[in-house]
Amino acid sequence: MLLILLGPPGAGKGTQGSLLADALAVPKISTGDILREALRKGTPLGLEARRFMDAGELVPDTVILGLVKDALGSAEAAEGAIFDGFPRNVAQAEALDELLARLDRKLDGVIVLEVRADTIVERMSGRRTHPDTGEVYHLTHNPPPPDIEHLLVQRPDDQEETVRHRLKVYEKATEPLIEFYKSSGVPVHHVDGERPIEMVQADLLSELGR
Ligand code: AP5
Repeated sequence: MLLILLGPPGAGKGTQGSLLADALAVPKISTGDILREALRKGTPLGLEARRFMDAGELVPDTVILGLVKDALGSAEAAEGAIFDGFPRNVAQAEALDELLARLDRKLDGVIVLEVRADTIVERMSGRRTHPDTGEVYHLTHNPPPPDIEHLLVQRPDDQEETVRHRLKVYEKATEPLIEFYKSSGVPVHHVDGERPIEMVQADLLSELGR
């Protein structure tokens, strides 16, 4: 299955994407995770991406499309994948369509996680990430094991002002993709992302007929 997870920053795309990838036995392709890993390793890609990410802006499309092409071409993704955080604008969606047509593959659906802005700001302020594994927790809603809590870090782009800017970028550049896919005939599933993590996952699987 080839699926796209859409939703504002902090909607739970990464959390649900990991659970869904396990349930469907396909990899999760998260452009944000790939960029953060490059940043952690200090590669040229990471250094180029840093200023965009810290400011809550989108990284240039050419950089992102190269990453996605590699990830989708991997043997691991031969049976499908969950896109988390990609595509982010109409140009990326059109480029993905072209890539899929060349590979003779097609999208099975788009899942839109719906969450209110106030919830998002609260989620971001409590989000903590393990710097080595990339595992994501929330101090209240998804607490980390006590023995690793001291190791966890907060993402630099999770400061309230940057989060509010990322929300504006989402509304302007990414939200139009909902109509883009509806008018392309790709099934678009809306899921209430405000419910507890396990309930969101159950709703999502049921939307997909699983
Ligand atoms: P990216 O990493 O994609 O960030 P994002 O889309 O802003 O989404 P987040 O990772 O912040 O949130 P999420 O929806 O995955 O939520 P999560 O599951 O963590 O991108 C970061 C940056 O990279 C971008 O700003 C841009 O610069 C660049 N970038 C990436 N892709 C790009 C692209 N394609 N093009 C251009 N630039 C790109 O959950 C959030 C918190 O809430 C966690 O603490 C979690 O535990 C908790 N939580 C999750 N679900 C629930 C729930 N149901 N109830 C309670 N708490 C919950």
